[in-house]
Amino acid sequence: MTAKAVPPPAVPRHVAIIMDGNGRWAKQRMQPRLFGHRAGAESLRAVLRACRDHGVEYLTVYAFSTENWVRPEDEVSGLMSLLRTFLKKDEHELHENQVRLRVTGRIQDLPRAVRDELERVMEATKDYRKGHLILALSYGGRAEIVDAVRAIAAEAQAGRLDPAKIDEAAIASHLYLPDVPDPDLMIRTSGELRLSNFLLWELSYAEFYFVDTLWPDFREADFAKALEEYARRQRRYGAPS
Ligand code: FPP
Repeated sequence: MTAKAVPPPAVPRHVAIIMDGNGRWAKQRMQPRLFGHRAGAESLRAVLRACRDHGVEYLTVYAFSTENWVRPEDEVSGLMSLLRTFLKKDEHELHENQVRLRVTGRIQDLPRAVRDELERVMEATKDYRKGHLILALSYGGRAEIVDAVRAIAAEAQAGRLDPAKIDEAAIASHLYLPDVPDPDLMIRTSGELRLSNFLLWELSYAEFYFVDTLWPDFREADFAKALEEYARRQRRYGAPS
């Protein structure tokens, strides 16, 4: 039997983005890296609105990786305060557009003040379903799989799970956000052609879109282009064309 190629829906339901190039953008302007991150936050606002306008339901952005903790202390604290500012300044937009905020990653690693603010906004938006903004914070794809394996092993040890019954669905159900559909499209800006430990499990069947534009320059029109490219592709899930 030959499986028929399944054309993807024209609009991806879930877009995941590696927002790369803030540092280079700032350097080009002889400004500190945080200047680039601030401009990057504007791009995030623009793309979130574009998701609403195009009917993209889920947006996951790589805002801070498990590897980012080794950056200079002032950059890390600057990013954390930028995140708090974003939550304070943009919370009203989440309410207006009925967007639910969630976090994927080791949220327990974040400073108390950031965690409190995140938890407050997540609680305030938890009933919204029109859109979903997922911030990957202290996130690593391998760390996520490690955490899932630990939880599965604990269940097996307690006799609640038969190791012979561990399958893909069992692993997927122990990831950080098991109810979120896998991304359909992954965008990485700034010309880097790597996955950098982002959503390793979840991106298995996603379309990848790489663009040279630095993240602070990536706005609505650039996002629309990525969606156009996605609509042209045929996703086959391993089936012949
Ligand atoms: C990568 O650029 C970007 C990050 C590590 C941080 C992303 C953060 C933002 C866009 C800020 C806004 C986010 C929120 C949630 C308010 P880079 O610094 O690695 O750039 P480079 O590769 O040019 O040095």
